[in-house]
Amino acid sequence: TPIEPPTDPAMALAALREELLARPDLPAFSARATQPVFGEGPVGAALMFVGEQPGDEEDIAGRPFVGPAGRLLDRALAQAGVARSEAYLTNAVKHFKFTATGKRRLHQSPDAGDITYYRPFLAREVTAVAPRLVVALGATALAALAALTGRKLPVLKTRGQVVTGLTRHPVFATIHPSYLLRLPDEGAQQAGFVDFVADLRAAAAQAA
Ligand code: URA
Repeated sequence: TPIEPPTDPAMALAALREELLARPDLPAFSARATQPVFGEGPVGAALMFVGEQPGDEEDIAGRPFVGPAGRLLDRALAQAGVARSEAYLTNAVKHFKFTATGKRRLHQSPDAGDITYYRPFLAREVTAVAPRLVVALGATALAALAALTGRKLPVLKTRGQVVTGLTRHPVFATIHPSYLLRLPDEGAQQAGFVDFVADLRAAAAQAA
């Protein structure tokens, strides 16, 4: 007889972690990561933020969004009046994928296969957290969530919109904070930051 999936969300999240840790078929790059980085935050959070994958600092700390992109996200959340401690933060891909040049570990984008591999974990995580609104930070998160129902959503056309029917919970699309860090000049970064804060405010209002 099949084992009943746990109905308690905290137990469901714990089961998900154990299962990922015990997986014999993880993508090859995961073996080079320090550890998987799981989501963080309260079950039942109004807002659930989904990023791409842990970066160098997240890989070492074992926590999502603690590196440069995370600090930028923290600033934007503060300006939007969203308490990070009340939100749930996670990533579409749970291991850091990188290429090493000397001592530096450079972020490598996850490919479609990587995103597909981790997608069931993300789906179960969304179900367990059961947020009012899932906020997709950037193209990878949005692609992972859209693919749950076989859809393709381009981030720039979907940005600022609420998409329903992807998960049981509505999805709001915005940019990834790393995108702002890569903009060439300070003016563009500042303008981009203002727009990002406006998106976060809209998301918070939607989830209120
Ligand atoms: N970028 C992400 O997408 N996730 C993190 O946790 C950190 C940086």
